[in-house]
Amino acid sequence: MVISPFTPPRFLVMMRTFPPKTLDKNKSMRIGPYVLRNNLFLAPMAGVTDRPFRQLCKRLGAGMAVSEMVSSNSLLRGSAKTLRRANHEGESEPRSVQVVGADPKMMAEAARFNVDGGAQIIDINMGCPAKKVCNVMAGSALLQDEPLVTRILEAVVRAVDVPVTLKIRTGWDRAHRNAVKIASIAEQCGITLLAVHGRTRACQYQGEAEYDTIAEICAAVNIPVIANGDITTAEKASWVLRYTGAAGLMIGRAAQGRPWIFREIDHYLRSGRRHPEPPLSEVRDTLLAHLHNLYVFYGEHTGVRVARKHISWYSKGQAGGGVFRNAVNRLQTASEQLAMTREFFETQMSATELAA
Ligand SMILES: Cc1cc2nc3c(=O)[nH]c(=O)nc-3n(C[C@H](O)[C@H](O)[C@H](O)COP(=O)(O)O)c2cc1C
Repeated sequence: MVISPFTPPRFLVMMRTFPPKTLDKNKSMRIGPYVLRNNLFLAPMAGVTDRPFRQLCKRLGAGMAVSEMVSSNSLLRGSAKTLRRANHEGESEPRSVQVVGADPKMMAEAARFNVDGGAQIIDINMGCPAKKVCNVMAGSALLQDEPLVTRILEAVVRAVDVPVTLKIRTGWDRAHRNAVKIASIAEQCGITLLAVHGRTRACQYQGEAEYDTIAEICAAVNIPVIANGDITTAEKASWVLRYTGAAGLMIGRAAQGRPWIFREIDHYLRSGRRHPEPPLSEVRDTLLAHLHNLYVFYGEHTGVRVARKHISWYSKGQAGGGVFRNAVNRLQTASEQLAMTREFFETQMSATELAA
C-alpha cells in the first residue's frame, strides 16, 4: 500500500467506522482502598512528573498521578535525585511510586523501602524502552522473560501490604506481542491494576499507538486495565475508552504544557461537550505558579533549568514562541525567568485583545 503524505491517522479512519460514544458517567475507580475522583491517570515520565507537576495535574483533573521511576538498586537510594523522586510531602492521596529493576529480591526490597517512605501504591515499570534500563534487562526488556516477570510480580506483591500496579508495553517487538499473556500473569500474581502503552519496545515512540492489543487484554483479564498512548484530545480519549473497553486512560506527553487536558477530558466524558480552552490569562497564571513550585522544590539553580522545558511546552504554538524560548532559556535566575515569561504572555494577551 502506498501511503500518501495526506493519509489520515489510523484512529481517525477507525473513528468514522467506529464512532465514539460519550459515556454516561466518567465512573470513579478504585485501587485497593483508594477511590479515585475519576479514571484519568497522569503517565509516569522521568524528568517531567516530579511532585510539582503531579500536584498540578491532580489539581486540574487527573484522578491519579504516578511518580517518576526510582531504581531498585539500593546503592542509588541516597542520591539527591532518588530522594527528590521519593519526596511526596503535601501530595494528595494516593501516592504511587514506580520502581524499576530486574532482580525480584531487589524489587521487593525497593517496594518495602518506598512504602516505609510513604508510598501508598507501588507501580512496577515493565514499559520503559530506554537503553540504559533495557541493557540491564529491566523495564520493557522484562517482557521477553515471562518466568522472570512472574517472579518479580510475586516477590513485590508478597513484600508489601499496599496495592501493586504494573505498567507494560504490548511486547518486545511486533513479532513478540505477549501483552495478553503478561496481563494474565499479572492478574494471577495479585496485581491490582495494569496500564498498557499500545506500542512494543521496538516501536519506541514511532508510528501510532495501537489499541487492538489493549482491547484484547481488557477482554482477557478481570483487573482494571488503563489504556495509554497518543491520547491527545477529549474526543480521542472517549474513543479509546470505548474502543478498548479499558477502565481508564493514561495521558503522558499531551499533558506537557497542557495540564488542564485532564479537566477537558473529564468534562467531555461526563457531559459529551467540549470544555473551553483556557484563556491566556489562565495559561499565564498556571505557568507562573508552576514555576514558583519548581523553584521551591528544586532550589533556584536546578529549578530554573528544570523550568525551561515546561516554559517551552506552555509557549508552543504561540506567535513569537521561538524567539521567546531562545531568550528565556539563557536566563539564569528565577526572577528574570518569571519576568520574561509574564511579559511574553501579557504581550500575547494584548495582541489577542487587539485582534478581537
Ligand atoms: C520523557 C518521558 C519519560 C518517561 N518516563 C517513564 C517512566 O519513568 N516510567 C514509565 O513507565 N514510562 C515512562 N514514559 C512512558 C510514558 O509513561 C507513556 O507510557 C508514553 O509516553 C506513552 O504515552 P503518551 O503517548 O500519552 O505520552 C516516559 C515517557 C516520556 C515521554
